[in-house]
Amino acid sequence: MTQDELKALVGRAALDQVPDGAIVGVGTGSTVDHFIDALATRRDRIAGAVSSSERSSERLRRHGIRVLQTAEVQSLPLYVDGADEIDGQGCMIKGGGAALTREKIVADLAERFVCIADQSKRVQTLGAFALPVEVIAMATDRIVRRFAALGGRAMLRAGVLTDNGHPLLDVHGLHISDPLAMETEINQWPGVVTVGLFARHRASLCLLGTAQGVQRITFSE
Ligand code: 5RP
Repeated sequence: MTQDELKALVGRAALDQVPDGAIVGVGTGSTVDHFIDALATRRDRIAGAVSSSERSSERLRRHGIRVLQTAEVQSLPLYVDGADEIDGQGCMIKGGGAALTREKIVADLAERFVCIADQSKRVQTLGAFALPVEVIAMATDRIVRRFAALGGRAMLRAGVLTDNGHPLLDVHGLHISDPLAMETEINQWPGVVTVGLFARHRASLCLLGTAQGVQRITFSE
């Protein structure tokens, strides 16, 4: 199977996680696009979706799925999103699609994070994929130097601003053995909007697309 077929497989498999009548938290990316397409077949059985990007909102609306604002919900039963990397504890690197801040906001509203990913995303240790970090522009140079002190090479993602209008750094060369500690540390740096480490908001379930089918990996609380 191709990578895109594996993404489609897990996008469809995630439908089983969606309770009838739910408002669903929806992430961003090519895997989530498949989930949204599958969700459209159930649109009469859900109350709507809260989306993490303009891209996903547009796709949801095109399918006739009601998109609610975060202010309209108190909590969500689940959030479904992809990942750039996921480790054995359910910690993830996210933000390859530049939507990390809104993804973390919507994930924070949800009781469960269901990660959908093809098998290439499963890693032992996070960090081979460059870590995305959304920053306030005036803090960029300082943050680049802070990453250098940790052994990371932070590169500005050329020509990209997030949905919030901020630049993004991609940090190469980090070996992230303690994702929670690193997320906590980077979150303290002035000018960091969001670091694309999801350790505080790690997955409770991963549906991993493999050549043998969908592998379900549950992570302890
Ligand atoms: C977007 C993300 C995506 O979930 C991540 O980049 C995976 O994308 P894809 O499903 O296209 O491989 O974090 O900000």
